[in-house]
Amino acid sequence: MTDKKEGGSKKLWGGRFAEGTAASVETFTASIQYDSRLYKYDIAGSKAHAAMLATQGILSSSELEAIVTGLTEIGREIEAGSFEFKPELEDIHMNIEKELVDRIGPAGAKLHSARSRNDQVALDFKMYLREQCSQIIELIDGVNRAFVTLAREYLGHIMPGYTHLQRAQPVQIAHHLLAYYEMFARDKSRMTDCRKRMNLSPLGCAALAGTGLPIDREQVAAALDFDGVTTNSMDTAGDRDFAIEFTSNCAMIQLHLSRLSEELVLWSSQEFSFVDISDKFCTGSSIMPQKKNPDIPELIRGKSGRVVGSLMCLLTLVKGLPLTYNRDLQEDKEPVFDAVDTVSSSLAIMAELLENLKFKTGRMAEATKTGFITATDLADYLVLKDVPFREAHGIVGQAVAYCLEKGCELEDLSVDELALFSGKIDSDVFEVLSVEGSVNSRLSTGGTSLQRVEEAVGEAEKKLGIV
Ligand code: ARG
Repeated sequence: MTDKKEGGSKKLWGGRFAEGTAASVETFTASIQYDSRLYKYDIAGSKAHAAMLATQGILSSSELEAIVTGLTEIGREIEAGSFEFKPELEDIHMNIEKELVDRIGPAGAKLHSARSRNDQVALDFKMYLREQCSQIIELIDGVNRAFVTLAREYLGHIMPGYTHLQRAQPVQIAHHLLAYYEMFARDKSRMTDCRKRMNLSPLGCAALAGTGLPIDREQVAAALDFDGVTTNSMDTAGDRDFAIEFTSNCAMIQLHLSRLSEELVLWSSQEFSFVDISDKFCTGSSIMPQKKNPDIPELIRGKSGRVVGSLMCLLTLVKGLPLTYNRDLQEDKEPVFDAVDTVSSSLAIMAELLENLKFKTGRMAEATKTGFITATDLADYLVLKDVPFREAHGIVGQAVAYCLEKGCELEDLSVDELALFSGKIDSDVFEVLSVEGSVNSRLSTGGTSLQRVEEAVGEAEKKLGIV
């Protein structure tokens, strides 16, 4: 590759250009400000590609050695912060390749044989994202370990379960906590699937049609720990499904964190007063000296907008694109990077917050004493005495109305009073009207009885390797 005549383009791709690029265009098209994040993968990909070119006799062994040494040096300098990135070289691929050519000469100029930036960028992005999948999985495990530890600690303590944010039925605190464990376990499984699906090497698809040079895609794939190679070169050049799937998984994680945050905000309010978020994870008010604000969950909740926004950005980006590569696709990186940073930092801090969270068990138990929280149990009691459920529902509704009038709870009524609503009610009714009785009667699979929840905690501990 030779520089153009005076006044011509000095780009690696400048052969057919008589004039240099306008400065405004260089600024507008550059992605190096953000895609420098991919340098490690770009260098690893280039080394594997060069090794394959050498196996195929396209590079000599001394050329390969020069390339590998040059790339290692460049990698070290980037790592150390001493490498100068040039916006006029557009992106990470060109910045590294141009520097290599400048350092080692003609051997460096052979590196791009049988490769295009289209398959190169897909490779770098996939290698980056599969690593992020693994890191996010570890962060999810951190949050789930905190949930399971809390569930074990609070096993047997009871709180109101809510629907419509109205007290509904009593549940174990541990059951509520394990609901989040399940949500995050699904997120983990989605990330695992996503990693597996994306782990096919795109390298060798070249610009869009494959290459006439005698390459060995499988060799490169194996060297870079891919499970195999992609099938269709045109699909590969324009495929960003893997990035969309990844970001969609991130959006789901952030939504789960956001729902949890909403509960933490509510529960730490004086109105609920169910939890105490450690001082370390709260902030004060600049004007109101008494305030202790739950800023961490609020910020996590707030950040869900960014991650959902990233997903929307990617979906819209790809929507109208014809096959194969289009420069629009360069816009895929910033939203993904932002999703990675947001989800990773949110998961990490949520785990820490949970590790320091205290439940006010007395206050939570107290909240189960009002609100006719065992009304369904009374209906079920009647069902077991052969009253059709709809009829039982009506009977209990009338009893609740009676209590409201009287200003008491169901269990405050005498058997005689209860019998006014149904002759099937007997003194054994008080067992089902007690909160503990209600909780422990829910032995159905996935239910909130102590027995079922203890098993669930044990299962979760096993999965997370907690002994
Ligand atoms: N910086 C580009 C991107 O991120 C790399 C691929 C450029 N390919 C091209 N044909 N201009 O998408």
